[in-house]
Amino acid sequence: MDCDGGRAAKKGEQIYISMKEYPFGVLPLANVDVNGNLVEFADMVKLPYLHEAAILYNLKRRHREGKPYTRTGDIIIAVNPFQWLTHLYTEKKRSYYSNRLVWEQTDKDPRDGMEPHVYEVSALAYKGLAFGNVDQSILVSGESGAGKTETVKIAMNHMASVQQGPKSEADADIAQLDPVVDRVVQSNPLLEAFGNAKTLRNDNSSRFGKYLQLQFDNSSAGAVPSYTRSTCKLVGSKCEVYLLEKNRVTQHTEMERTYHVFYQLLAAPDKQKYWPKLAGKRNEDFKYVGKSSTTKIEDMTDEEHYHHTVKVLRMVGVDDNMLKELFVAIAIVLQCGNLVFGAKGGDRDKSEVTTRTEIKDLAELLGVDDAVCEMAFTERTMKTRSETYKVPLKTDAAKEAADSFAKEVYGKIFLWVVDQVNSATNAETNYQGGGRDDFGIIGLLDIFGFESFKVNRFEQLCINYANEKLQQKFTEDVFRAVQEEYESEGIELAEITYDDNTDVLDLIEGRGGLLAMLNEECVRPGGNDQDFVQKALMANKTSPCLIVNRTDRMSFGVHHYAGKVMYDADKFVSSNQDTLPTDLEELGKASANSIVSRTEAADTSGKPKRQKSNIVGQTIWGKYKTQLSSLMTNLRTTSSRYIRCIKPNMRKVPVAMEHVPTIEQLRCAGVVAAVTLARSAFPNRLDNQAVKFRYNSMWDKNAFPSKQTNNMTKEQQAKCIAEAILTCALKEKETKNKEGKIVRQFVVGHTKSYFRAGALEYLESNRSTGLDAQATTIQKYMRGAVTRMRLRDMVEGAAKREREARLAKEKAQREAQEKAEREAREAREKFEREKAEREKARAEANQKYLDQIAKLENDLKFEESEGKRRLKNAADRKTEIQNQIASLKEQTSEDAKRKILEPKKIVAQQKKKVAEQAKMIDFLKKENKKIRKEHDKVQQKYDVVAENNEKLLKASDIAGDDFDKKEEQMSKVDSKNKTLSDTLNEAKSLNAQLKDECMAKQDAYMSQAETRLEYQKTMARILNMIQDSSVEAQLIEETVCWALEAESESKTIMAALEAETAMM
Ligand SMILES: Nc1ncnc2c1ncn2[C@@H]1O[C@H](COP(=O)(O)OP(=O)(O)OP(=O)(O)O)[C@@H](O)[C@H]1O
Ligand SMILES: [Mg+2]
Repeated sequence: MDCDGGRAAKKGEQIYISMKEYPFGVLPLANVDVNGNLVEFADMVKLPYLHEAAILYNLKRRHREGKPYTRTGDIIIAVNPFQWLTHLYTEKKRSYYSNRLVWEQTDKDPRDGMEPHVYEVSALAYKGLAFGNVDQSILVSGESGAGKTETVKIAMNHMASVQQGPKSEADADIAQLDPVVDRVVQSNPLLEAFGNAKTLRNDNSSRFGKYLQLQFDNSSAGAVPSYTRSTCKLVGSKCEVYLLEKNRVTQHTEMERTYHVFYQLLAAPDKQKYWPKLAGKRNEDFKYVGKSSTTKIEDMTDEEHYHHTVKVLRMVGVDDNMLKELFVAIAIVLQCGNLVFGAKGGDRDKSEVTTRTEIKDLAELLGVDDAVCEMAFTERTMKTRSETYKVPLKTDAAKEAADSFAKEVYGKIFLWVVDQVNSATNAETNYQGGGRDDFGIIGLLDIFGFESFKVNRFEQLCINYANEKLQQKFTEDVFRAVQEEYESEGIELAEITYDDNTDVLDLIEGRGGLLAMLNEECVRPGGNDQDFVQKALMANKTSPCLIVNRTDRMSFGVHHYAGKVMYDADKFVSSNQDTLPTDLEELGKASANSIVSRTEAADTSGKPKRQKSNIVGQTIWGKYKTQLSSLMTNLRTTSSRYIRCIKPNMRKVPVAMEHVPTIEQLRCAGVVAAVTLARSAFPNRLDNQAVKFRYNSMWDKNAFPSKQTNNMTKEQQAKCIAEAILTCALKEKETKNKEGKIVRQFVVGHTKSYFRAGALEYLESNRSTGLDAQATTIQKYMRGAVTRMRLRDMVEGAAKREREARLAKEKAQREAQEKAEREAREAREKFEREKAEREKARAEANQKYLDQIAKLENDLKFEESEGKRRLKNAADRKTEIQNQIASLKEQTSEDAKRKILEPKKIVAQQKKKVAEQAKMIDFLKKENKKIRKEHDKVQQKYDVVAENNEKLLKASDIAGDDFDKKEEQMSKVDSKNKTLSDTLNEAKSLNAQLKDECMAKQDAYMSQAETRLEYQKTMARILNMIQDSSVEAQLIEETVCWALEAESESKTIMAALEAETAMM
């Protein structure tokens, strides 16, 4: 198969399919495991099925998992993560890669088991230089915003770390750089301020190509490499730049910006020190800059960037004077944009600057006379052999001249900055061992990727030309790698064919090619774009890469390696001319500003010098071609490594990957082509063991026997078997070439089998057809077996069913009989058991009743004797009280006399108390009667209980076996007994309570009686007192009467108390 670099693929076509139509929801030729899950490959060369979709899905999965880097042989694919994955770039990580890949010795591929990384490329490049003593280059490419500049910075920082030598775990975190290295690392991003701008695709887009050469002193390396210390030290750097986009100085679209440094100058707090008129000036005061809504670039404001830029400028040796020169030069560019031209004195063929202040300011900045300055823009000096004269310019031409001047000045500024950086960092002058030119080089190329827009102009052709040159080298390198692999597998190289891009390069740079035609048109008087197109088409009509546009004479197309691009030739001729009008050149030279007046002779940037004698060399493209050729020559002396950057989505967001743009970039980056080329002629491969496993079923062993022998190694045997299987399975696919030689669809290597395009698919399809056929055979046998079983069932079924029914019936009868017998036996046993239990329960119940009755009788007897004892006690107490009353009576007559003399009030109280006592005694009498009645009732109930018990005993005897009835009766009796016993207990407690109350009342009576006695004694004392002390006969008489009255009353009460007590 011829590698077409992905050309055959249709661009951006989307079709919809239903996954349900595919077995297990897996697409054919997908790299999945036995469960249908996608298998991820860190190295895509190992993808079993190789096609664009496999590459895309592999990258997509890794990208989603936060793995931006994937290997394709020696190439690293870097998918822009659009988020800083800190863990990937720690000092520890750097040491890990450098230790493993540089400082540790191993026989195996040191990358085994390591995740792909930029550090892998930088470490291996360093190793190649330090131990192999071969200059290295790392070529980073990709479309705008894909991450080239970031990747170069990452690689450069790693290089600075790896050249320090092996690091232990302990000092892996320490990153101390010596001052030269520090300057190299820090100064490089300075170019971003002058050469980068915000575009729609990237906020920090590099608008120039860059080849940074890191210089190493490898002179102390011995013949045997040292793995314990670094002998290859980074000592400086040199930078070469390509094709700065100068148009951006004078115009940019609304959403974009011009170069960062303009905004930085205008945001500088001290800008007036460079030019006082800058004070208070804003972005919108300069037409080339204009209003910008962007406030931050890479998280820093323009003012912050300004401070950083100044700091680095100082670091590379730009002193205050030069700093001023630089910013004045920038102000000159800004000022050019503010010139407005109008027709001079109403003559439209002439022009003048209408903004007088602006031209004066510009002249002031340039340090020239303002009239001279104006004339340079509005007139053109023409020279003939004999005379020199001036031609006035129209306003448009004058404006164009001002713009050209601004672009030229900015170009000079940019190159001047590059020169400053180079002067400050190059090893030749800055390294102590300088003066030499034999430093080892690791070059880092950060160059614009292939471009294809809706409208493609001269710049795109230049850029794509550069990419074609690089692709040529890339293809050569990949081819070399393929060669090596095939050789190691023992496959003949004649089998490999691949498509290089010499055709395209011939079309562009060959004799009579596009470049030659354009240059010719540029020097031809009256040369124009359309003539260029027609001549170019005519001269190259046999080129397979040229596309003719029959509908537009100003357009032509080129089949680039990465795809077809149509170019619009408008302004090709003028864009290619690099001749600034003499008047403007002179104006620049006349300037007091040293940067503006600088001539190319002073330029040390490494840019090719103008070849005065060769007009072709003076065109932009001519110079560019020379530059590129020199770069390519340079690169060819190095061992190149590739990093292909991919922008996974246009929204610049993490995780997401848009299929169509990604696959297009993969094509452009030549990734698909690279892998295809890596498998050129044989895009698919399988281990010989896998061949045996998968396609054994297609092997007719008799027709195609294996040549294996017992004394072969396993690997050799597998090779023989694979050879035999594939010869058999792919016999039908064999073709004949022109020479009549048979071309087979596979080659078997020592460990792998390689397949031509379509061969593996053919095998897979046959395999699945074979499997289908086998499945049909299996189904046939299975169906036969099932049908036979059914038939046998049908024949044998009836008898079998009858026998089964009979057996089932007998079984059921037997079981029913057994069940009945078992139930009868169990019922009987249960009856017997219950009967015995009943009798036992009855006997126990009888005994319980008898015990209860006996207990009740005992209790009653005890209660009776207790009652009698208490009655006796009460009688004894009564006698005692009577005795006390009798003794009281004796005392009463004496006391009564004394009490008569007590005042009437006391007597009244006495009367009240006596009345209360009478009531109390009344109450006690009634309570006593009640108790007696209750006692009688209890006695009667007891009699009834005794009678009932007797009846029960009799009934119990009579009841016999009618247990249920008896039990009922017993429970009734029980409850009655319970009620009775409750009533008895109640009566007992009531009795006891009454007795207690009676006793309490008796005690109260006794105390009343005592009180009464005391009272009577007091009364008597009061009466004696009155009789003794009073002379009033009336009072004495009344008192005596009253005392006598009280005494008789008292006697009555006492008599009543006595009677009452007697009743108790
Ligand atoms: N490895 C990375 N990790 C995190 N972010 C990244 C990485 N690489 C790139 N980016 C992000 O992508 C942006 C664009 O990257 P970069 O400027 O390197 O692109 P480029 O390829 O140089 O584009 P241009 O051709 O326009 O200069 C960066 O500003 C950064 O935000
Ligand atoms: Mg960049």
